[in-house]
Amino acid sequence: HEIDAKQHNADKGEFKHYMLKEIYEQPDAVARTLEMAIDNHAPNALRTDFLERHGEQLSGVRYVQVIACGTSYHAGMVAKYWFESITRLPCSVEVASEFRYRNPVVVDNSLVICISQSGETADTLSALRDIKKQNPAGLVSLALCNVPTSSLVRETDIFLPTLAGPEIGVASTKAFTTQLVALMLLMLKTGHVQGRIDDEALSNHISELQKLPGQLYASLHLDAPIKAMAEHFEDKKSCLFLGRGLQFPIALEGALKLKEISYIHAEGYAAGELKHGPLALVDKDMPIVVLAPKDSMLDKLKANMQEVHARHGELFVFASETSGIEAEDRLHLVNVNDVCETLSPIIYSVPVQLLSYHVAVLRGTDVDQPRNLAKSVTVE
Ligand code: G6P
Repeated sequence: HEIDAKQHNADKGEFKHYMLKEIYEQPDAVARTLEMAIDNHAPNALRTDFLERHGEQLSGVRYVQVIACGTSYHAGMVAKYWFESITRLPCSVEVASEFRYRNPVVVDNSLVICISQSGETADTLSALRDIKKQNPAGLVSLALCNVPTSSLVRETDIFLPTLAGPEIGVASTKAFTTQLVALMLLMLKTGHVQGRIDDEALSNHISELQKLPGQLYASLHLDAPIKAMAEHFEDKKSCLFLGRGLQFPIALEGALKLKEISYIHAEGYAAGELKHGPLALVDKDMPIVVLAPKDSMLDKLKANMQEVHARHGELFVFASETSGIEAEDRLHLVNVNDVCETLSPIIYSVPVQLLSYHVAVLRGTDVDQPRNLAKSVTVE
């Protein structure tokens, strides 16, 4: 054990925690995951060897069902927005622990995507086994997984790897962003083989994807301002994360990260739901984190921020440089580089990870091994 610990400490290199190291590894992890499908010398199309043997299976898909737990579930929520808005294929996403016990309908010609960093999560595996037992016509099962030797990979038709490399921190970071990248690639492949995405649209998506490693690298420069922002959270009891559209799942993920490692109660909300409940909680003591890229929902989001402001809430905003949002009394601002709307959830994952990391460090919790949690939940 002592040797193990020493080995692990050495692996952390210059970083104080695995989590921070893994946050910083994201540009490389995402670049590796992209290389599965995109050849830098032929950047207008997907590589012919990407999911090569599965083109026919994917061309028959009429419905997408995503099943996952925890952070992987949030990746699935983003995928739902992508699949439906870009390919027009209907997509549902559900936590495995609910899906498996409610006798769900799995329609014919479904692509069942099981997302799991470890590939050993008991609920996700059981949900998959139940679907296979039900055996709907044209079922295609796919494991989106970071561990090629896992049970989930062995039990599915298609294995789509995330090339995040080993993730040690219990709170998932680079596994999450590589899941998002792989889901985007899978959505593009499925949409393209079905003629739902034409060559030109595909080429545009690919050129945006290629900017991701550089954009992620740039977002790491937010570390210092976010560390300063974190000081406002140190003695807080409760916190709200707000986002709309593609940022709603990132608001959920931000809240999950904060509660996992800092033990501050946090909730993620679709900002449009504010007046249906959480507005009652807003006072000067509850920080409200807002994810505000320049996207089609920005004006609506600004109206929600106004609702908070009017009730003396304190806003902590991650916003696009061109959002028009400015720092003022009780509005703390960190500017994020402009990114395309579709891929904004990948970039905005970084500031919420860094925020929870720095809050946890200030509170002196065990960042890499939070109490009561496990990296892989292999029992129910
Ligand atoms: C545990 C981990 C989380 C993870 C979840 C699902 O709760 O602490 O970080 O998101 O399991 O794990 P999986 O390996 O299936 O992605």
